[in-house]
Amino acid sequence: VNREQDQLLDLHEKAAQLYHHILINTPAGEPARRYLQKRGMSRELIEQFSIGFAPVQRILTPYCNQQGLDYQLMRKSGLFTEDRDGKLQDRFIERVMFPIRNGQGRIIAFSGRLLSTERTDLPKYLNSPETPIFNKRRTLFNLDLAKKAARSDGRLYLFEGFMDVISAFGAGVENGIASMGTSFTEEQVQIINRTTKQLDICYDGDSAGQNAIDRAIGLVNAHQNGQLALRVVQLPAGVDPDEYVQQNGADKFRAYVHDREETTTDFYLRFLRNGRNLDNQQELMTYLDAVLKEVAVLDAPLEQDMYLSKLADEFKLDKAALQGQLRQLQSERR
Ligand code: CTP
Ligand code: MN
Ligand code: MN
Ligand code: MN
Ligand code: MN
Repeated sequence: VNREQDQLLDLHEKAAQLYHHILINTPAGEPARRYLQKRGMSRELIEQFSIGFAPVQRILTPYCNQQGLDYQLMRKSGLFTEDRDGKLQDRFIERVMFPIRNGQGRIIAFSGRLLSTERTDLPKYLNSPETPIFNKRRTLFNLDLAKKAARSDGRLYLFEGFMDVISAFGAGVENGIASMGTSFTEEQVQIINRTTKQLDICYDGDSAGQNAIDRAIGLVNAHQNGQLALRVVQLPAGVDPDEYVQQNGADKFRAYVHDREETTTDFYLRFLRNGRNLDNQQELMTYLDAVLKEVAVLDAPLEQDMYLSKLADEFKLDKAALQGQLRQLQSERR
C-alpha cells in the first residue's frame, strides 16, 4: 500500500464515520432512519456494517475542504463529481450509504441506495467508480467477515444484493458475499476458490435470479477444475433473501438455506423446464437432451446413475435407453 492509497483509505474511513453520524445523530438522518426501520434493519446491523446516510445538503465537500484535504486526492477518491470548471461536489446525495470493505476490512468504496422509489430516473444503487483502491471486478461485498465465518461453515453464500448479505448476516448466516451490482466475474471466482471449498449460489427467486444462477454456474465451471463444490439454493418465487428473512424470520431462513441446498444438476433439471410443455413429446425430447448434457459432465458414475433413475421414474422411460443416449453424448464430448 503506497502513500496515496493510504490517504484514500483514510478518507473513506472518515467519510463513513461522517455518513454514519448523520444517519444516527442528526435531524437530516431522520428519513433514512425511518426507511431502515421500515426495512427491519436493526441498530446492531447498522453498526456492524457502518451504514450511513448522505443527505440532500452536500456535506462531504465542505468537510474535506475544512480539513484542508488535497484537491487531487479528493478527485481520485471517487466520492465527488467534478463540474466543467473542475469544481468538486458530493457524488452521493439522498442515499443510504453502504461502505464496501476489502478483504482486510478497510473501506474502499460506497454503494448508495435511493430512499425514494419515485425517482425511477436515477439508479437504485449508485456505486463508487473504480479508483486506485477500488477494483470492482476483484471486490466481493462482506468478504472480510464472510471468510471468517466460512472457516467453520465450510462454504460461502453468494447473494445478489447488499441488503441480502446484511439481512442474512443478521439472521446468523454470516458467510454471505455479493458482487458489485455488475455481474459476477472471473476474478471473483478465483478469490472464492482461494477462500473456501464450497459456494452456495442463493440469488433472488425470480426469473432474472434463475438466469443469473445459470450464468454464475457457467462462469465458475469455466474457471476452476472441480476444487470448488457448487450448490444452489433456489428461493420461493418472487422473494429475495432479504425479503425471506423479513417475512419468515431468522430461524426459517437458516433452515431454508440449509435444507434446500441442491446440486447444480438438480437446478438444471428444474431450470431447463422453463417455457417447455413436457406433455408434448417433441418438447420432452429437447428437454431430456439438454438435461442429459448436464448429467454427462458429472464424473461420478453413481451420481449419473441417480439422475438417470430420477428421469426414468418421472417420465416413465426405459433407463437403458437413457443410458444409451448419455453414452452417445459423452462420446461426442471427447
Ligand atoms: N442493482 C443496481 N441497480 C439497480 C438494480 C439492481 O445496481 N437499478 C444491483 C444492486 O447491487 C442490487 C443487485 O443489483 O443489490 C440486485 O438487484 P435487486 O434484486 O433489484 O435489488 P435488491 O438487492 O433486492 O435491492 P433492494 O432490496 O434494496 O430493493
Ligand atoms: Mn455508531
Ligand atoms: Mn434481483
Ligand atoms: Mn433483490
Ligand atoms: Mn431486495
